[in-house]
Amino acid sequence: MSSGENNTLLSKVALVMVVAIVVSAMRWGPDVLPRTKSTQGEVLPVEATEQHVPPLSKYMEQAPFEESEWLDKHFKTPVPAQGDAPEDWPEITGSLQPEQCGACHPMQYADWKESWHAMGMGPGVLGQLVDFDGKNDKKVRQCNRCHAPLAEQYPYLEDGVENPDYDEEMRSKGLTCAGCHVRDHERFGPPKEGSPLSGAPHGGFTARDEYKSSRFCYGCHDFRAGEGLMGKRFQETYEEWRRTDYAARGVTCQTCHMPKGRHLFKGVHDLDMVRSGFTATANANTNGSALTGQLRVENTGTGHRFPTYTTPQVTLVMEQLDASGTAIDGTRQTDAIGRYLAPNLKTERFDNRLMPKESYALKYSSKRNKKAVAIAARVEIWPDEAYRRLYEIKLRKPENHPIGLAEVQKAHELSIASRFVAWEQRIDLN
Ligand code: HEC
Ligand code: HEC
Ligand code: HEC
Ligand code: HEC
Ligand code: HEC
Repeated sequence: MSSGENNTLLSKVALVMVVAIVVSAMRWGPDVLPRTKSTQGEVLPVEATEQHVPPLSKYMEQAPFEESEWLDKHFKTPVPAQGDAPEDWPEITGSLQPEQCGACHPMQYADWKESWHAMGMGPGVLGQLVDFDGKNDKKVRQCNRCHAPLAEQYPYLEDGVENPDYDEEMRSKGLTCAGCHVRDHERFGPPKEGSPLSGAPHGGFTARDEYKSSRFCYGCHDFRAGEGLMGKRFQETYEEWRRTDYAARGVTCQTCHMPKGRHLFKGVHDLDMVRSGFTATANANTNGSALTGQLRVENTGTGHRFPTYTTPQVTLVMEQLDASGTAIDGTRQTDAIGRYLAPNLKTERFDNRLMPKESYALKYSSKRNKKAVAIAARVEIWPDEAYRRLYEIKLRKPENHPIGLAEVQKAHELSIASRFVAWEQRIDLN
């Protein structure tokens, strides 16, 4: 079967599956979860590797770290409150609300609204923060820094001191246009082909090359030095990227995540994006009653580790099928690719994330079931897996979340609903 054909078909199959998740608890219920190993409320993929990939210092830098005082200042948070816009600006032009930017920049707005940046204060984040407000403001400020960086989005700027500029509605909008583009009502953006319009609304804009650079994303997609485990920070995407051929060739974060300037920011939650990032191959061999096989995944298109964050889990599955195409009980073997940390972030259970050109395989070995006519190999993406585990723990103590409980519940449901099949193949046994 040609893989192109196969892929189109599979993409349809996968979409149907995503829709079917909610109704099909059997397919996506506990049976798909790896079996439990630890008694501390953790579910570990039993067969998962014992691997611990090395720190980035073991990989050669392909591009230098780009210093930028301008960016350091631009993303110093909270971004100071912007106050009133110049008096001669019409109201729409002075507004920091993304909808208002969207009136004149409809394309950027339409893309951004569907992006994860607009979800910066989604139920998973807000559900946790509302019960800290006024109680643990340091924590709230820490999260706001990347998720909703404008001062107008901080309920408290100092412990226990209400922020007079706080705008609750603005907070719920997460990482807005203004968060990346506006300081003191001045617009900043990438240099434009041709000369800027004079007399443009909001006084035109200031062009900065940094908007074209991967370094633009560093402030939020790399945690600060000092945090981390086994020499690896919990998030260090820019530093990973600097050690890839993509960096050497000038393929930036924007090239892949903002193609042609589009504000899509698609990532691990998106089927097509994920499929552009890896290649899978599977095989199976029978020898008498023995059945062995392999499902190998290689990072062939992701410009950093696949996956980069500690949250997603790439779940590898192989199982035997009977003549009706149904999976035979007891024949499933699973493994995972990701960085699995204990909930307290103090222990790394495994880390087998893949830098470009690296690969990892599930090795299947079992007796051939009498009814087996084929073996199915599948790559499942669980984008929010570490958060799902965290929400599960939180939901055991509902009393700790008097205000945010419903949001945490919703986030938990969404974290399961976000799973999808990114690749699947059936191998007929002779
Ligand atoms: C009334 C219409 C209007 C509104 C409202 C508006 N803009 Fe603009 N914006 C423009 C126009 C027109 C230009 C083109 C200016 C030029 O080419 O010199 C522009 C240019 C820009 C640029 C630079 C584009 C580039 O090529 O680099 C950025 C960034 C920008 N706007 C961001 C925003 C943001 C963020 C908001 C909301 C906070 C906003 N704008 C609200 C009309 C508007
Ligand atoms: C240094 C920047 C940074 C800080 C600080 C930060 N986050 Fe995040 N967070 C991110 C990024 C980036 C992602 C998305 C990463 C990805 O998908 O790889 C994310 C994802 C998430 C998600 C999953 C996405 C969602 O909306 O459900 C949750 C929940 C979350 N963060 C909660 C928090 C909380 C709570 C805090 C404060 C304790 C916090 N974050 C602090 C950068 C940050
Ligand atoms: C996470 C930061 C971020 C957010 C949020 C964001 N932008 Fe951008 N924006 C960028 C970057 C980076 C570029 C440069 C992209 C490139 O040229 O490759 C850009 C480019 C632009 C441009 C120049 C023309 C273009 O499309 O390349 C405009 C106009 C613009 N953004 C408006 C907006 C508006 C309006 C919003 C909200 C609806 C928004 N941006 C949200 C980072 C952001
Ligand atoms: C001000 C902080 C900030 C900046 C700057 C920023 N991001 Fe993000 N980004 C976040 C946060 C926070 C999230 C998670 C939002 C949420 O809670 O869902 C995120 C999510 C994402 C995701 C979604 C991943 C997924 O889970 O599917 C992608 C992709 C992404 N960012 C790419 C970029 C790129 C590329 C740039 C630079 C052009 C950039 N970001 C700049 C804070 C930032
Ligand atoms: C060559 C293309 C490419 C480049 C360059 C690239 N990415 Fe990605 N990125 C991907 C693909 C494909 C995925 C989906 C697979 C995955 O989740 O790892 C992805 C996923 C992500 C995610 C989702 C979370 C996760 O754990 O994977 C974030 C966040 C992200 N990229 C941020 C960035 C940032 C920031 C940069 C620049 C420092 C960057 N990317 C550079 C292709 C790229």
